[in-house]
Amino acid sequence: MTPSGDQLEDAVVSHIEDRPISSILIIIAMQAEALPLVNKFQLTEELSMLPKGVPWVCYRGIYKNLNINLIWPGKDLSLGVDSVGTVSASLVTYASIQALKPDLIINAGTAGGFKAKGASVGDVFLASACAFHDRRIPIPVFDMYGIGLRQAFSSPNLLKELNLKVGKLSTGDSLDMSPQDEASIVANDATIKDMEGAAVAYVADLLKVPAIFVKAVTDIVDGEKPTAEEFLQNLVAVTAALDQAVTQVLDFINGKCLSQL
Ligand code: ADE
Repeated sequence: MTPSGDQLEDAVVSHIEDRPISSILIIIAMQAEALPLVNKFQLTEELSMLPKGVPWVCYRGIYKNLNINLIWPGKDLSLGVDSVGTVSASLVTYASIQALKPDLIINAGTAGGFKAKGASVGDVFLASACAFHDRRIPIPVFDMYGIGLRQAFSSPNLLKELNLKVGKLSTGDSLDMSPQDEASIVANDATIKDMEGAAVAYVADLLKVPAIFVKAVTDIVDGEKPTAEEFLQNLVAVTAALDQAVTQVLDFINGKCLSQL
């Protein structure tokens, strides 16, 4: 009997689940978040697999038994600031999955945290799920499409070993939070808020690549301080915590299969 397309796909997936993870794609939106990891793992810039003319940057290297590819969407070509947000995140995720066929995606970065849900500045979270909070479409079923809820790849052993906090991540294209965003974030039951996670999750799901989300809290959204000020004040220090957590995640992943995470 000839196997069906679905059976062949299942066979490929179970094969990937049962061999050690070898290729990791780390997606990071800001240069300040990316460069400490580039330096720590002695990654080198390699642009040949990306389209010509885009600002996206790929850094590659080997750490233990892992091939590491770190993708940063780079600086906006006309304004010179980091290309943060969901549009750039989706594009680099798509292009780098196509070029690199990674076994696992790690979306690492900073996030706002809600103290009412137990977040403090400097905490590092492993997100259990991602959803959008600024895609409101009040028509049946389109409403759920807008929210775009996706689960992170389940990694209970990683969570236990690293002692990270766990919570839901809500994503939107603004650093601030409008009253409508706030209502959606509450409905998403989110503990942390970023500008890329749900977009990375969407593309990873589309192309069937497992993804995890490591987010370090730079600012308290339901606190007293203005978000932009608190974010900039804490960015460097919190990036060090993020850097340490990503290293611990890579150390844990090294030599393991997806099914052992
Ligand atoms: N990244 C860091 N802090 C954030 C916030 N408050 N909202 C969205 N993204 C963030």
